[in-house]
Amino acid sequence: ATKGVILIGGPSKAPKPLLPIGGKPMIWHPLAALARIPELTEVFIVGFYEDALMTDFIRGAKREFPKLSISYLREYRSLGTAGGLYHFRDSLLPNLGMLFVLNADICSSFPLAELMDMHQKHRGVGTMMGVTVPKETATRYGCIVHDPASAQVLHYVEKPEKWISSLINGGVYLFDKSFFDEVKAAMDTKEKHAAEDPFGERDDILRLEQDVLVPLAAGRKLFVYESKDFWRQIKRAGSAVPASALYLNHFTKTNPKLLTAPSKEGGGPTIIAPVYIDPSAEVDPSAKIGPNVSLGANVVVAPGARVRDAIIMEGTTIDKHACVQNSIVGKHCKIGPWGRVDGAPEDPMDTKNNLNITILATEVTVAKETCIVLPNKTLNRSAHDQVLL
Ligand code: GDD
Ligand code: GTP
Repeated sequence: ATKGVILIGGPSKAPKPLLPIGGKPMIWHPLAALARIPELTEVFIVGFYEDALMTDFIRGAKREFPKLSISYLREYRSLGTAGGLYHFRDSLLPNLGMLFVLNADICSSFPLAELMDMHQKHRGVGTMMGVTVPKETATRYGCIVHDPASAQVLHYVEKPEKWISSLINGGVYLFDKSFFDEVKAAMDTKEKHAAEDPFGERDDILRLEQDVLVPLAAGRKLFVYESKDFWRQIKRAGSAVPASALYLNHFTKTNPKLLTAPSKEGGGPTIIAPVYIDPSAEVDPSAKIGPNVSLGANVVVAPGARVRDAIIMEGTTIDKHACVQNSIVGKHCKIGPWGRVDGAPEDPMDTKNNLNITILATEVTVAKETCIVLPNKTLNRSAHDQVLL
């Protein structure tokens, strides 16, 4: 059987994998992509968040994708990007054909069918999705030197000090079953080194990139599928708003039913597409929403309010004539009448990854007539770990 793994890492109080991006929890997107592969039947979400945090999501996902068996495999500690694959091999290996491994913290169209197509044309152990990024940003990622004619990876370096290539690891892989032999070999090598080193400590941590992909590339067993489609990493809270915009735009083409229809003549709020509004949200007809907005469950938007380029999480109220832009507003916040929450739009070429987005944490109240313009600031005691990270 073909199976899929989604790597979600962990932990923080509000789990980043559940942050709404494009109106859906971040990990919904890779899961939905796996569900589109006809022969894929089993998905394992691997991380070290508490089980309880994942239960509701998994219950909903099983209902939405009934053909998939979905389970959460919890690591007892952070085991690295390949440690969990090794640790849970007894769950993954039975009856395994091919295995997709997807990072959770990226946004992508997940061209898995194309990846599979290319994988079946060579005799390598794995195929990774490569994407091209601006030269100045390439060293933040795993960098790939390949032979364009054969798509073979000649050289792989995780986050090199100096630029070697702008084709980078997009965090989407397809492996043959024999991948587990490579993982086992990497673990053996690591244990051997630990045994030789008098101060060496034994642990189960294994890095997919340095410990497995590097030797795979050296052995010419790794290939790359170059995707030209949209791709972006979602590392910091600030990258969630532009990532959300990418998904909302993508849905305009692929799945417009997921979005809120542009305003009709005469009734309803002004909607500037693309916008996602949860069916339980209440938006006053005189409000103006969009572009690039998602409103979560039970959000209330009062008369005259304006929201653009923002993620508004469940239970938040935006009072009359308030204006929210380039911001993430956490659950159950209150933005008072005439309040203003404003971040600066992101500069895509900003190589320092400085993100001028305002983040309001859970249960913050912005009082009447407050005018807040706090680019790059977190507006509350513990906004960061409550919103993201
Ligand atoms: N289960 C589990 N356990 N998952 C983990 C762990 C862990 O201990 N650590 C990280 N992850 C998950 C993260 O949630 C994320 O989805 C993925 O694994 C990779 O995260 P990082 O290890 O933080 O690496 P990175 O994001 O800096 O870089 C990776 O992704 C880039 C693309 O976004 C590398 O694979 C790069 O080469 C790649 O370019
Ligand atoms: P669009 O491009 O269609 O969005 O037009 P616009 O940007 O000229 O006007 P828009 O309706 O987007 O108004 C948003 C701007 O209104 C923001 O840039 C804010 O600076 C400003 N604004 C500030 N406070 C408020 C408020 O309380 N209510 C509304 N509606 N707008 C406000």
